Amino acid sequence: MVEYPDGSAGRTKTCWGLPELADRLDRIPRYPLLRIQREVGTPDPAAQNRVARAAVKIVSIVGARPQFIKVAAVSHKLRKGHREILVHTGQHYDYEMSGIFFDGLELPRPDRDLGVGSGSQGFQTGAMLKGIEDVLLAERPDFVLVYGDTNSTLAGALAASKLSIPVAHIEAGLRSFNRCMPEEINRVVADHLSELLLCPSDVAVSNLAAEGISKNVHLVGDVMLDVLNWAKERAATANRPAILDRLRLEKQAYLLATVHRRENTSEFAQLSSILNAFNSVNEPVVFPVHPGTRKVITERGFHAAPHVRLLEPVGYLDMVALVGSARLVMTDSGGLQKEAYWLGAPCLTLRNETEWVETVEAGWNLLVGSDAVKIVDAVHSFAPPDSRPALYGDGAAADRCVELIGDRS
Ligand code: UD1
Ligand code: UDP
Repeated sequence: MVEYPDGSAGRTKTCWGLPELADRLDRIPRYPLLRIQREVGTPDPAAQNRVARAAVKIVSIVGARPQFIKVAAVSHKLRKGHREILVHTGQHYDYEMSGIFFDGLELPRPDRDLGVGSGSQGFQTGAMLKGIEDVLLAERPDFVLVYGDTNSTLAGALAASKLSIPVAHIEAGLRSFNRCMPEEINRVVADHLSELLLCPSDVAVSNLAAEGISKNVHLVGDVMLDVLNWAKERAATANRPAILDRLRLEKQAYLLATVHRRENTSEFAQLSSILNAFNSVNEPVVFPVHPGTRKVITERGFHAAPHVRLLEPVGYLDMVALVGSARLVMTDSGGLQKEAYWLGAPCLTLRNETEWVETVEAGWNLLVGSDAVKIVDAVHSFAPPDSRPALYGDGAAADRCVELIGDRS
């Protein structure tokens, strides 16, 4: 293995087992400080394994809440055999939107924080593109790993592919077929730039095929299920989730809501229709509010009824506990639709389409859009079937992702 002056590992394949070639590499002027690790060529198999496993250098790009959750499934596993540099773009930055996940999910600290912050689509993506390019030029990774469909995903995929660094996309192939969503644009572009496409469902694989992408497409399952299983194990020892006590909630006696999607927040008519629905139901509504949505609610002076509890965003383990005990979930979140399904909570999706169509087909998720009457009706009448077939894999998606990334390098 070669080690660069900054301590980073290079590709091993060139010099593995060839000490004489390693010695020659030592003298290459391009890397005047290049140091050849003396383990090269050693007969000790344990040392050889250590060297082989360190072969791949990956820059992982995250920046928004769902990505901190997804990387929690993958990062530790990736680091067992490879070198990961974790880049946080700074798209989300409030403690409740970022730090709380690094603490609660025991994530490694980001190696680089670009601190990009909020802004228009173009400003934010452009600032990330520049920041990520600088990191990639300095780090020279073998792969760039991107997650999901945020502006951080797009910037990571674009920066890497412009430098001819292969991109692996976790959660590839999802489509809403609604190009008004910034996320749809992000995921289409990221998929078309990716060299390794790691899909959570058959539908995602088919979506890619319909766009002519079939090479290096793998059905791996959803890494969010891996994280959820970890969280459930963590919670198994507690009789009753602490957050229910803190909020004085009874199991199955409240509705859980989240709203942040641009289509629901950029037009106040949409948001107020949804909030009016929350005000009109006759059960407690627990609503951890995304800061972007909070801003609109505050600016517009919307008054929530006493049974609607507007909270700060909560940490992942608390959220899992809230979903698991809710009578029903109302959300425009992608991740939450699946968590509601896995945890057996009926879900009303406050959108007109979803990428997670299997949850709708299974009868556990109903698309209700933002119409207040439709939402209230569904709160009272929606009843999913008894059966809930397994969806989105077996909870071992991260292992497959790591293996495939290792194989491709
Ligand atoms: C982004 C993603 C969306 C994802 C969501 C997860 C894009 C295009 N969208 O949407 O796919 O579902 O994250 O939550 O990337 N803000 C704060 N503090 C923060 C973060 C945001 O106050 O820590 C406020 C700012 O006013 C900001 C607004 O929230 O303008 C929206 O944030 P932004 O990251 O642009 O988009 P999200 O709606 O979070
Ligand atoms: N989530 C959380 N706290 C909250 C709201 C959401 O931990 O207050 C979790 C949720 O359980 C899911 C993920 O955040 O795992 C979903 O992220 P979000 O809804 O922000 O984005 P999306 O999935 O729509 O892209």
